[in-house]
Amino acid sequence: MNDLRFDFIAPRHPLYAGELELRFRVLREPLGHAREDVKFPFEDDSLHLVAHANGDVLGCVLFHPEDAHGGRLFQMAVSPSLQKKGLGAKLVRALEEELRTRGFRHVHLHARTPVVPFYERLGYTLYGEPYEEVGIPHRNMQRDI
Ligand SMILES: CC(C)(COP(=O)(O)OP(=O)(O)OC[C@H]1O[C@@H](n2cnc3c(N)ncnc32)[C@H](O)[C@@H]1OP(=O)(O)O)[C@@H](O)C(=O)NCCC(=O)NCCS
Repeated sequence: MNDLRFDFIAPRHPLYAGELELRFRVLREPLGHAREDVKFPFEDDSLHLVAHANGDVLGCVLFHPEDAHGGRLFQMAVSPSLQKKGLGAKLVRALEEELRTRGFRHVHLHARTPVVPFYERLGYTLYGEPYEEVGIPHRNMQRDI
């Protein structure tokens, strides 16, 4: 997709509604969760990276800084028609690049168990025991960037 652009946006940005819609469709609706469930309490304190084309948000990933050195990657989503074409990996790499310039050194995340191989390909490693979140199995993963 030639006109695809990557931008860090804030919740007041015009693309934020599209980001929320993508997050709902990809991450919450398939689990039967309500639209209101898509927002996190630390939404405003997080970095929001979106991939977009012609005003449509096609992918996103968020990062919540937890201290000066690291934080949590969350709400990783790619539009279903574009999955498995490299967009998710590009989003994670672009996020990590920005985090490095901001002085962050560690990223952790809560991976849905079937998606663990996606993060492993990007250098993330498992730690801790499996657990359930939003009603489905998860694993903790981390990476030094
Ligand atoms: C998981 C997700 C973000 C990955 O994005 P994507 O654009 O489809 O992934 P990419 O095409 O960039 O994949 C990068 C690599 O990971 C692999 N990969 C991607 N998803 C995978 C999966 N579910 N299982 C195993 N491997 C996977 C790809 O085959 C590719 O491998 P390669 O480097 O050998 O070619 C996307 O599929 C998605 O939105 N899924 C639904 C929501 C979700 O589960 N989000 C994660 C919550 S923790």
